[in-house]
Amino acid sequence: MANILMFDSGMGGLSVYREVRRVLPAHHYFYCFDNAHFPYGELSEQALIDTCVATVEQMVNAHAIDLVVIACNTASTIALPELRSRLCIPVVGVVPAIKPAATLTHSGCIGLLATPGTIARDYTHQLIAEFAPGKQVLLKGSTELVVLAERKLAGEEIDLETLRGIMAPWTEGSGCPDVVVLGCTHFPLLREELAAVMPGVTLIDSGSAVARRVAHLLGDSAQIESQGTGVAFCTRLDAAAEKLKAPLVNWGLTSLHAV
Ligand code: DGL
Repeated sequence: MANILMFDSGMGGLSVYREVRRVLPAHHYFYCFDNAHFPYGELSEQALIDTCVATVEQMVNAHAIDLVVIACNTASTIALPELRSRLCIPVVGVVPAIKPAATLTHSGCIGLLATPGTIARDYTHQLIAEFAPGKQVLLKGSTELVVLAERKLAGEEIDLETLRGIMAPWTEGSGCPDVVVLGCTHFPLLREELAAVMPGVTLIDSGSAVARRVAHLLGDSAQIESQGTGVAFCTRLDAAAEKLKAPLVNWGLTSLHAV
């Protein structure tokens, strides 16, 4: 059985972890979130690379990790080359699902909903140029949505009117997207609410594609039948993090520790 590290700034990576663990339930999962530097979408590129590399390296060395999933689009757009050059284990990243969106759209208008950091990256613009030529791609970077997803995970009710207001430019008038890419791993956690305020719009994310990639890299180990384990780690074990202990148990992460 493999030790798999899933890494994000906060709770968003749980949307990827859920898909990977569903496909590969027998492995040992270490869900690590860098809450000391949350939100990643507002960090400078160098600060983001530095904190990702330091935290992931520490986790890999301390827990004999076999494979890392950077379950964060914002980090994946910038930190993967440095991580891969330093680690001698597979590092899987998350790419916004622009390619499938370009196939699914009927109107030719796609929305990319991500963090301000992801929206600003050259990487994202290259992805659009390569995989959605001839399509109109609307871009929206929102840290407010990331914070709402964190609140939902902590057990708070989400106000649909707030969400409706954030998404209004894509739901009112003409030229609205018919496919929206959830290009931040926090956003699938708000899928039901987003679907309620954007009726008729197809919402897609990359969770199942990441799970397929991990299964491919681990080969036959996908067939192991024993039950795996899950534990969580954070970079700042404060009162707010302590409150996440109970919700994390519901995700199969039985304890929370400081990195
Ligand atoms: N979950 C992250 C992503 O996929 C980052 C959110 C944040 O910390 O801003 O982009």
